[in-house]
Amino acid sequence: MTDRLFDVKDMGVAITGGAGILCGTMAKALAARGAKVAVIDFNLAGAEALCKEIESDGGVATPVECNVLEKDKVEAAFQSALKSLGTIDVLINGAGGNKKEATCAPPTEFFDLPADAIRWVFDLNCLGTILPSQVFGKYMAGRSKGVIINVSSMAAFRPLTNVIGYGAAKAAISNFTQWLAVYMNQRHSKDIRVNAIAPGFFLTEQNRFLLTNEDGSMTPRGKLILDHTPMGRYGQPEELIGTLVWLMSEAGKFVNGIVVPVDGGFAAFSGV
Ligand SMILES: NC(=O)c1ccc[n+]([C@@H]2O[C@H](COP(=O)([O-])OP(=O)(O)OC[C@H]3O[C@@H](n4cnc5c(N)ncnc54)[C@H](O)[C@@H]3O)[C@@H](O)[C@H]2O)c1
Repeated sequence: MTDRLFDVKDMGVAITGGAGILCGTMAKALAARGAKVAVIDFNLAGAEALCKEIESDGGVATPVECNVLEKDKVEAAFQSALKSLGTIDVLINGAGGNKKEATCAPPTEFFDLPADAIRWVFDLNCLGTILPSQVFGKYMAGRSKGVIINVSSMAAFRPLTNVIGYGAAKAAISNFTQWLAVYMNQRHSKDIRVNAIAPGFFLTEQNRFLLTNEDGSMTPRGKLILDHTPMGRYGQPEELIGTLVWLMSEAGKFVNGIVVPVDGGFAAFSGV
């Protein structure tokens, strides 16, 4: 008998931010397990290159250009993904990030942060999760089934110094994850689940300027993070896949409205 607990074969999976480091790894890993993936990103060239790679490995992947902050573009991306994949069983809201102008590392003061930069980070992370959840969520409500997985952060559990806009936006995502889980079950279907993954620290483009110097050595912040990560290292993108597959598949059938840290113990450690 085949164990279908962690089976994602033939699932249609739409991944926003799919051309990025973490979600690109997710797209590849899911396709390797037989899922059909739509790589949705405003970096079309990146999405196309990734899909080619997936297809040359025998997987099914389609690139879709989209700015997740424009609802009409998200609608068009949904239609395009649906046409290519046949069904969409899972939405992964991975588009997100931070920018230097919205952080107040010394000598920059919180009081002086430009509103535009704060708005940019809020919109990308928060609105950029809500709008695709509206569009793909409406389709799932119509089918009475589906899975939505958001991407939160360590900055959502307890604020991290400096990253004011990012932390507030990710806290909003964790809150929204719980909210949407309840809304979907109460108003639409008991078979729609909404959860989030909160990655710990993975060295990627969005945080490289905070964690490493130009010569590749660690910044004091990078060192502090590792000192507060009991496992003593950054995560590897592949280490998110087990949790992702669990949340998507039969194995996570009664798991709803939670935010799962994948962080080498960072969230557990008080520093003492
Ligand atoms: N790297 C980490 O340590 C870490 C930790 C916690 C959470 N996260 C979160 O994980 C997710 C992926 O992060 P990553 O590190 O892989 O970043 P990344 O920059 O490699 O990937 C982000 C992707 O989102 C795309 N994108 C940005 N704005 C978009 C928009 N408006 N519309 C469509 N696509 C857009 C980018 O083109 C990029 O491909 C983000 O939500 C991030 O906040 C990352």
